[in-house]
Amino acid sequence: MNSVVTCAIIRKMAKITNLANKIEKQLPAELVNFMQVAGRVATSQGQNLYLVGGVVRDLLLGRTNFDLDLVVEGNAIELAQQLAEINQGKIVTYPQFNTAKLQWSQWSVDLATARSETYTKPGALPRVKSSSIESDLSRRDFTINTMAIYLSPSRYGELIDMYGGRNDLKHKLVRILHEKSFIDDATRIWRSLRYEQRLNFQLGKNTLKLLKRDIPMLDTISGDRIRYELECILQEERPEKVLRRAEELNVLQRLHPALKGNGWLAEKFEQARQLSSPNPPPVGLYLALLAYPLTDEENERLISRLRLPKSLAQALRDSISLKTKLQPLANPKLTPSSIYHLLHGYSSPAIITNSLASDSPVARQHIHLFLNKLRYVKPALTGNDLKRMSITPGPQIKEILQRLHEARLDGKVTSKQGEKELVKEWLG
Ligand code: CTP
Repeated sequence: MNSVVTCAIIRKMAKITNLANKIEKQLPAELVNFMQVAGRVATSQGQNLYLVGGVVRDLLLGRTNFDLDLVVEGNAIELAQQLAEINQGKIVTYPQFNTAKLQWSQWSVDLATARSETYTKPGALPRVKSSSIESDLSRRDFTINTMAIYLSPSRYGELIDMYGGRNDLKHKLVRILHEKSFIDDATRIWRSLRYEQRLNFQLGKNTLKLLKRDIPMLDTISGDRIRYELECILQEERPEKVLRRAEELNVLQRLHPALKGNGWLAEKFEQARQLSSPNPPPVGLYLALLAYPLTDEENERLISRLRLPKSLAQALRDSISLKTKLQPLANPKLTPSSIYHLLHGYSSPAIITNSLASDSPVARQHIHLFLNKLRYVKPALTGNDLKRMSITPGPQIKEILQRLHEARLDGKVTSKQGEKELVKEWLG
């Protein structure tokens, strides 16, 4: 018996799964071709190459995912450089992590050097060193994310499943790999809920028990990392599902005790999606809706916990302070200029949040008018035009421009000529 036949028999006995067919069927031909070439190039450099993580999980689930993550036992940057030449692509390298991003035509692929991690203290970023694919997979979060596929030609398509990830996919389970996983990295608490709700899975029994035990560890995570997780959640198709589950497990309250993942939020998120369609709502809008029930003071605590960048912080502050304007905005007799003065200066996500949150159809109509029309209205005359009409530069010009703006808003004037006549009338 020759060695090829022997290998085939051994693999069959070990129940080796080959996913080459699935790869071929589910991924675009350009990516399949890329992976085959990459496997050959890696082998010629004496390195082993694997497809890992989310894309393997999604291949097995039949979900669309074209975000290729490759791991190489060797040197990812060297491999990326050679692949960039072949594909006429460009690379961005991260020598401190020994990783690279390769981009060509519409594709982008991440390449990492297989590494092991040690956590020196809970919540801190781990210490990393190069290692084998096995230790790289063993540092990962959930069994369903620990699978890899060989890309080297001799074993192309073979599945590596060290932790029963495939079985967990079958049973729709999110399970961590070891007792200390959430302690090492408590962002995994949020990540577990994200996968659970995205895939309609359940947390494994022991994983759920450990998650509850380790909720206090969320406090060890920096604002930037928690914000990143929250942003990932808000980019899910139905973020409200994750937030509802997070409230049920007291995870959301750890972020801020006054936050709610309730039916009100679900309804508003759905309305936000309809409003933004065909695009997904911006993260700022979702976040402002989430923070809407907070007081100013509570909101400030959330902003600093998440270390929100200025524009997002402003959207949240505006949205909460605009609440006081909802009652006056519900007055059906408001003139367009009064609507303008009530809403002018607030950021768009804050205004939209209040429109979604308001129970008054009149207030919503007024906000709609402001967003679609009033905020763009300007007088045709400028300060220079007024000077040419022999008005002395100074506060009078400012006042006239303001009055013209209001007249425009309220439809009392509609042309430049009309504005000139109005100014002459005012000046007597
Ligand atoms: N990972 C981890 N612990 C984290 C973050 C990530 O172990 N705190 C691992 C996971 O195994 C994951 C991989 O790193 O598969 C890449 O992380 P990420 O890019 O967040 O996940 P993807 O699988 O690429 O994306 P997704 O699962 O959202 O489709």
